[in-house]
Amino acid sequence: MAKFITPKNKITASATATLVVDGTDGGISEEFGVLEGTMGPKVVEIGKLYAKTGYFTYDPGFMATASCRSQITYIDGEKGVLLYRGYPIDELAEHSDFAEVCYLLLYGELPSPKQKRKFEHDVTMHTMVNEQLTFFFRGFRRDAHPMAMMVGVVGALSAFYHDTLDLDDPYQRMVASFRLIAKMPTIAAMAYKFSIGQPFIYPRNDLNYAENFLHMLFAVPCEEYRVNPVISRALDRIFILHADHEQNASTSTVRLAGSSGANPYACIAAGIACLWGPAHGGANEAVLAMLAEIGTVDRIPEFIDRAKDRKDPFRLMGFGHRVYKNYDPRAQVLRQTCHEVLEELGVSNEPLLKIAMTLERIALEDAYFVKRKLYPNVDFYSGIILRAMGIPTHLFTVIFSVARTAGWVAQWNEMIEDPSQKIGRPRQLYTGYGPRSYVPLDQRRKRKAAG
Ligand code: SDX
Repeated sequence: MAKFITPKNKITASATATLVVDGTDGGISEEFGVLEGTMGPKVVEIGKLYAKTGYFTYDPGFMATASCRSQITYIDGEKGVLLYRGYPIDELAEHSDFAEVCYLLLYGELPSPKQKRKFEHDVTMHTMVNEQLTFFFRGFRRDAHPMAMMVGVVGALSAFYHDTLDLDDPYQRMVASFRLIAKMPTIAAMAYKFSIGQPFIYPRNDLNYAENFLHMLFAVPCEEYRVNPVISRALDRIFILHADHEQNASTSTVRLAGSSGANPYACIAAGIACLWGPAHGGANEAVLAMLAEIGTVDRIPEFIDRAKDRKDPFRLMGFGHRVYKNYDPRAQVLRQTCHEVLEELGVSNEPLLKIAMTLERIALEDAYFVKRKLYPNVDFYSGIILRAMGIPTHLFTVIFSVARTAGWVAQWNEMIEDPSQKIGRPRQLYTGYGPRSYVPLDQRRKRKAAG
């Protein structure tokens, strides 16, 4: 059985950076190693900065901070490059499938035909969930957001496997990884069925990953459900494009939770919770809500103005990215898929698509967006495609979480295998009160409410 790739040995410094701080501290001048990866920016190794200088670094949002070393995904935001284990995302979207991409992310190499068949079989054998799990859904209101159900039910998987996981055993970690990749679509489909009052549909072992998910979402016990191959191929491509993305917010959440030795099911539940935010994975759902709010093409300028107004919290959902400062390569692939799916389904005149295409054109010509390099990201198109496929808007981020589980488990395994790995524990720049003595209740003047 292929072994997870362990991170290479210790990376040696290729140069030296000197930090010079003059003034009140009597001047500091300390040297730190510069480390070089395979590609991308070099890093200054500052692990000993505090010990050597008494200083912390300060980088809210980690704009320029590498939290780890990784061999899984590489992004070049300026050139719009996204590689999974070195393979360009557009080639994988064109020629590969999600099962093969899961294997690639986990093991680092494309599988042989035999390895791929075994991987697909092993994952398929984990697609069912313990029947007890069905009772968890009864505690939710029918109108609960499916992401709330995902956080709860995936976290509850810990209760079924918490005592059968030795994190130091690669085989047991692999079984947990397979379970998570395999069970996410089943649980996602159960959340949807519960919300519409239909019976849960069991997975089928004769369908591939995307087909099985569509089957569990849309089949009913009363009749045969036929998967539309164009839809299942489009969904498989959406899974590929969303599978991993370097150290984004939800992946960093999974790594941080995992760094404490937490159960992987609980770590993935934490990643789902983080992904739910509208600034992150929740954006695809927010794009559709925004397009619906815009309503007609002639109202687009009003919303563009609102997006530029610093006093207005409104932002164009589906635009901008922390890393991509040109086109999101995933958006390019999805833009083409979007037109294919809408053509196939005969909904090319979909009003929301018209608004989306006009919004894209206007935004790309507007100085505000051009200056800030705010281009359509992956979420701009994924929401439109998923809606055309008949998937309800509130399931969009759930689908993102199903796909991203492949990346989350690959990154979780890599973190545990990294010999330099330790519990994540950032520090802070303290700006609160200095030391002060307790004031007994009867001696406190009436104070204005704080803040
Ligand atoms: C994902 O990290 C990942 O890899 C994430 C992801 C993944 O695969 O995991 O790619 C998935 O999360 C994609 C992003 C989906 N989110 C959205 O579409 C929500 C809308 N986008 C924004 O919230 C924003 O662009 C972010 C959060 C995506 C990025 O924010 P940054 O990099 O922190 O940039 P910023 O907020 O500092 O914005 C820089 C400037 C600001 O203006 P100024 O202060 O310079 O005047 O650009 C403006 C912002 O006001 N701006 C926008 C905008 N995004 C940024 N203005 C209007 N509309 C927007 N969408």
